[in-house]
Amino acid sequence: MCAHDKKDSSLYLPQVCTIVRTEAMTQRDRYFEFKLANGDLGHKPGQFAELSIPGIGEAPISLSSSPTRNGTFEMVIRNVGKVTSMIHTLKAGETLGLRGPFGTDFPMEDLRGKDLLFVAGGIGLVPLRSAIQYALDNRKNYGAIYILFGCTDPTQRLFTKEIADWAKREDIVFLESVDRPAPGWTGNTGVITTLFPKIKDKLNTKNTRALIVGPPIMYKFVILELKTMGFEDKDIIMSLERHMKCGVGKCGHCQINGCYVCQDGPVFTLEAVRGLMEAI
Ligand SMILES: Cc1cc2nc3c(=O)[nH]c(=O)nc-3n(C[C@H](O)[C@H](O)[C@H](O)COP(=O)(O)OP(=O)(O)OC[C@H]3O[C@@H](n4cnc5c(N)ncnc54)[C@H](O)[C@@H]3O)c2cc1C
Ligand code: FES
Repeated sequence: MCAHDKKDSSLYLPQVCTIVRTEAMTQRDRYFEFKLANGDLGHKPGQFAELSIPGIGEAPISLSSSPTRNGTFEMVIRNVGKVTSMIHTLKAGETLGLRGPFGTDFPMEDLRGKDLLFVAGGIGLVPLRSAIQYALDNRKNYGAIYILFGCTDPTQRLFTKEIADWAKREDIVFLESVDRPAPGWTGNTGVITTLFPKIKDKLNTKNTRALIVGPPIMYKFVILELKTMGFEDKDIIMSLERHMKCGVGKCGHCQINGCYVCQDGPVFTLEAVRGLMEAI
């Protein structure tokens, strides 16, 4: 059942947020830490916000940090067009407009006691990181944690210092792979599904929930792999990206077969989107 009937004018009013810190992450992707003038954003892992620059436009961007890290919030923005290229020119101390947080979230409280398998492809690590940080900050509430990260080549790796820390931790399993190696790369090579044989025998499929975010092609092959391993559709949780404008269920830009991804998603179970073949 899709619900998109909110009538709250504050949904349309941007608040001012200030850049605390920003740095290049890859050639196209830039990291930003923001703070709001009036307290915490109050987001949940997996949600997004609409960032705006007056006279230029607005863009939906995922919240990449966990709400357990209070005071500021983080995003990673890929320079692809009008709004994102302008945001890339901004420096610490400068301000933007922000509406949100919007959308559904990874149900981290409902997942207490479960084993978690995170699968992130490319920039999909950006929204998934908020759930990963949440689980790590509440480590005792979850069982085994597996994190798989894949990207096209070593220059596309994100949060390199943080993932080096994940790789060193003994209470989680972190594996990564690149599609195309480069000189100096000594890690795994191959698409992300080539990592599955390394964890397959350790996973307790019945108690594991898979959280996956990546490009459309990745969903196809990762879901096939998970289904072969015995995962049920209700235990596969994914975040879908659609073109969005309003972010609040009014303009219809994000619609798939009567569902508004901005409100009914972006986080869905596979069970919920099975019928929406276009989405997968
Ligand atoms: C829920 C959600 C979360 C997102 N999270 C992030 C994030 O964390 N980091 C990030 O960098 N981007 C994210 N995006 C994508 C981001 O919103 C778009 O890249 C941005 O809106 C482009 O705006 P622009 O004005 O810079 O580009 P435009 O000038 O509008 O477009 C440039 C090019 O990008 C294409 N494009 C525009 N919007 C999208 C889109 N939504 N999906 C695919 N192609 C698009 C256009 O067709 C055009 O070819 C997210 C999108 C959604 C819906
Ligand atoms: S973006 Fe406008 S209805 Fe979803």
